[in-house]
Amino acid sequence: MHVSNLGYIGVTTTDPENWCRFATDVLGMMKVQHDAERLLRMDDYAWRIAVAAGEKDDIAFAGFEMPGKSELDSLVRHLADSGVVVTKADPALVAARRVTELYQCKDPEGLPIELYYGALQRTETPFCSPCNARFITGAQGLGHIVLSAADIGAQRKFYRDGLGLKLSDIMALRSGQVEVEFYHCNARHHTVALVPLATPNRLHHFMVEVTELDGVGFARDRLDEAGDGKILRDVGRHSNDKVISFYARMPGGLIVEYGHGGILVDDATWRVMRYEKASDWGHKGQTTLVGATHPSGETGR
Ligand code: FE2
Repeated sequence: MHVSNLGYIGVTTTDPENWCRFATDVLGMMKVQHDAERLLRMDDYAWRIAVAAGEKDDIAFAGFEMPGKSELDSLVRHLADSGVVVTKADPALVAARRVTELYQCKDPEGLPIELYYGALQRTETPFCSPCNARFITGAQGLGHIVLSAADIGAQRKFYRDGLGLKLSDIMALRSGQVEVEFYHCNARHHTVALVPLATPNRLHHFMVEVTELDGVGFARDRLDEAGDGKILRDVGRHSNDKVISFYARMPGGLIVEYGHGGILVDDATWRVMRYEKASDWGHKGQTTLVGATHPSGETGR
């Protein structure tokens, strides 16, 4: 029993207007605004990212999709039996998330986690990227999130034993001081990665993937033209999932990874591997990993 994919995330940002402009003009997402509600689309789903004004730039919640009601009910029972406090969302929240049924809990570091099935599709208004970006979503979900884990044991227990994600591989960075764990729940190499550091933010970065390598190159060019986004790590290929990507700091400070070419996991043949380098080549630039526990060193994640 496991979640199907990462269906949506919510973020807070100190600069919602420019955050959304960056998401549309550089990343190629489609903005949908209902009064004060700012939503971003990446495909036929009514939304994938909800953007709200806040005092800091961080993830506010993560929604994991289930295939249907029976699987959702089973997972909720499993979590409750494991000691996780799970509550059924009220109708207003269900409506706001545009799903059919929704439960809420928190991960051990306090991040609100939502579990749902029956997401609203907007096929009558097809996704239309302002810069012709096409995202890999569907069964693989919207992308991945990399979360800080001050208590890696508790986080691992929640995401692996609770939500049912499986370990893809391990990256031992900073001479082995920081072992980043990558977890999958579908063919995407990782949907959640856990960084065992106490960091100021819960979210290290989120990643979206486009269908063609040229999509990464065009976005890289748009980043230079946008002005207020900053390249953090330039184009390179990751050692484990083989994604060719770059990392950029969005207005307000959140980090996005924009990539293509991730290998697909087949659980029938997958074997967990270990890496000491985050990248085969490239990804030159500033370190993106800043943590209180190990303040020095060099990583690419
Ligand atoms: Fe990533």
